[in-house]
This record gives sequence, structure tokens and C-alpha cells, in this order.
Amino acid sequence: MSKSAINSYKIVILGDSSVGKTSIATQFSNGTFSELQDSTIGAAFFSKTRTVDGKEKKIEIWDTAGQERYHSLAPMYYRGAKGALVVFDITSTSSFNRAKMWVTELRIVSNLDIPITLVGNKTDLEKNRQVSNEMAYNYSQENELTYIETSAKNNVNIEKIFDETVRNIPEQTSLYIEDDTISLSNKAIVKRKCC
Ligand code: GTP
Ligand code: MG
Repeated sequence: MSKSAINSYKIVILGDSSVGKTSIATQFSNGTFSELQDSTIGAAFFSKTRTVDGKEKKIEIWDTAGQERYHSLAPMYYRGAKGALVVFDITSTSSFNRAKMWVTELRIVSNLDIPITLVGNKTDLEKNRQVSNEMAYNYSQENELTYIETSAKNNVNIEKIFDETVRNIPEQTSLYIEDDTISLSNKAIVKRKCC
């Protein structure tokens, strides 16, 4: 496996339309925010190299379109992903219910065993909050998710959601066979059974 393949992490962003998925990706990769962000058509790709825990990691982001008419495209982006951000808007209970639907789709329908970070976005609109921190946290605990609240607008916790997701991705194992041994990431050496 090449060095770049070892250090790249594909992360998919899912969630209802207007929750701020593109705003999160744009704030993370470009450091910008727009009140007039266009709704995504199909999906958008972003990438950024970051140092997480002293190691350089290339984070490749698929920002999916939240509108229902694009729902059937989502598996193209989440299959093969190493981690997922499932985003809702803290001022919208319906977007929280939609986030739960995405968690179910990833875990139960698609049987994907990847770390998921549940993201409660738009904390700058605290006065309009409909989903309590406690409710989202409890749901996350029950479903083995990491829960983090963000504001894409004010750049609060945006790097953290990517860093935490990358941290939760298990160390990648490359398997290769040389002579009579099978090596896993050069760490564990397993003797092949002799015939
Ligand atoms: P789709 O592409 O349709 O799935 O939507 P999206 O989830 O990508 O949402 P988008 O990033 O386009 O943001 C929708 C609207 O919410 C835009 O007007 C953004 O400016 C606004 N927005 C995004 N994040 C925040 C935030 O943290 N705070 C506030 N106040 N507004 C936000
Ligand atoms: Mg978008």
C-alpha cells in the first residue's frame, strides 16, 4: 500500500438539507463562511491535509446533498468511507430525526462499521434551540456515536469534528505475504500454516 493511501481518510457528510454540511466543509477547508450558501446538487468534494496527533493526514471529504431527491445517490459516497459526520441543526427537531435516520441507514441498512460523529450545528443560534444537548448526547451514548456541537458560522469546533472522527478510525492494516509469513502493518507477524 502506498504512503499516500495509508495517510488518506475518506469522510462522508450526511444530514438534512440546510443543516450546514457545505458550510462546515467550506469553513474547514477554506476558512470561509457564506450566509448565502447554495444548496448542494449531487455532492461536492473537499480535501485538506492536517496534522492530527503529530501525524500528517489527508482528509478527503464527500459533502452530500441533503435534499430528498438526492437520497438515492448517498450510498455512492458513504460506501468506502472510513468515517462519517451526520449533521443536524440544533434549531430543528426534524433535522435531528433525519440525522437518526442516517445513523440507522449507515449502521443497520448498510451494515457499515465506521466511526460516526453526530454534529449539532448552528450553536450561534442558541436562542432558537429545539434539540437539547442532553437529548442529542444521550442518543449518541446509546448508539456509540461521538457528539459534538459546532457553529460553521463562527468556526467553533469545526476542526475538532474532523480530528475526532479521524482519531476514531482504527489504525489501517495492510496485509502482505512474504516467504512463509503474513505481515499486518509490519506490527503483527503471523506464521502461515505449513501444508
Ligand atoms: P444542502 O446542500 O441542501 O444539503 O444543505 P447544507 O446542509 O449543505 O447547508 P448549507 O451549508 O448550504 O447551509 C444552509 C444555510 O445555513 C446557509 O444559509 C448557511 O449560511 C446557514 N448556516 C450554515 N451553518 C450555519 C451556522 O453555523 N450558523 C448559522 N447561523 N447559519 C449557518
Ligand atoms: Mg450543501
